[in-house]
Amino acid sequence: LGKHVVFMETVQSTQKEAHKIAEEAAEGTLVIAEEQTAGRGRMTRPWHSPKYTGIWMSLILKPDLPPVKAPQFTLIAAVAVAEAIRDTAGLKPEIKWPNDLLLNGKKITGILTELQADSDRIRSIIIGIGMNVNQSSFPDELAGIATSLAIEKGEPVPRAKLVQAILKNMEIYYAEYIENGFGAIKEKWESFAVSIGRQLIARTIGGTIRGKALGITEEGVLKLQDENGIIHDIYSADIEIEQ
Ligand code: BTN
Repeated sequence: LGKHVVFMETVQSTQKEAHKIAEEAAEGTLVIAEEQTAGRGRMTRPWHSPKYTGIWMSLILKPDLPPVKAPQFTLIAAVAVAEAIRDTAGLKPEIKWPNDLLLNGKKITGILTELQADSDRIRSIIIGIGMNVNQSSFPDELAGIATSLAIEKGEPVPRAKLVQAILKNMEIYYAEYIENGFGAIKEKWESFAVSIGRQLIARTIGGTIRGKALGITEEGVLKLQDENGIIHDIYSADIEIEQ
């Protein structure tokens, strides 16, 4: 992965660029920029991406799989990134299902997995990774919820090393996933997961569900048990950890 790299100093969004080139791009193409002027997160939220301080990148994969498998790629990427942070910066992030990595309860990385697909087959999967690396401060509206590796570690962390580690890990887990399925990676995911066993509030398009997180399925679906004992399958939601 990352043999083909599209590097741009400034771009609206690497995700948007990746979408544009996905059809003709080779598998493993990486779109990476020093700055995004219109970076976006899940649910069309803006993603703050100041120059030279973070990792703003989108990886294009082309697995021969049905679209229902796409959410697993968010989980695979989360493990790849969590281990890269652990091995490069010596910090242990927590994964909050489905796509957040936290340090001391604040967001360090967000992952945005998007698809170009036919009804039965993925054409391209675009994994956007935004990591706060060397910011020394955040705008007021983010200060309480976001942090950077440099803030947590007390010194700058080399971005190139992190990118290399993420790609190397992704390559290993992607191959393992294609060969053996999600099982082995699921265990690693769970070793970083902060939300399992906790009481959560899941805000979904269909409404809000409160319950205890029992775990994730092989598909990457979150199982939430409400106070009446009913178990809900959560495919996509905003999660708040209640206790
Ligand atoms: C989230 O937590 O909501 C996901 C954030 C994803 C941000 C990354 S930065 C690189 C790529 N380009 C974008 O515009 N978004 C993703």
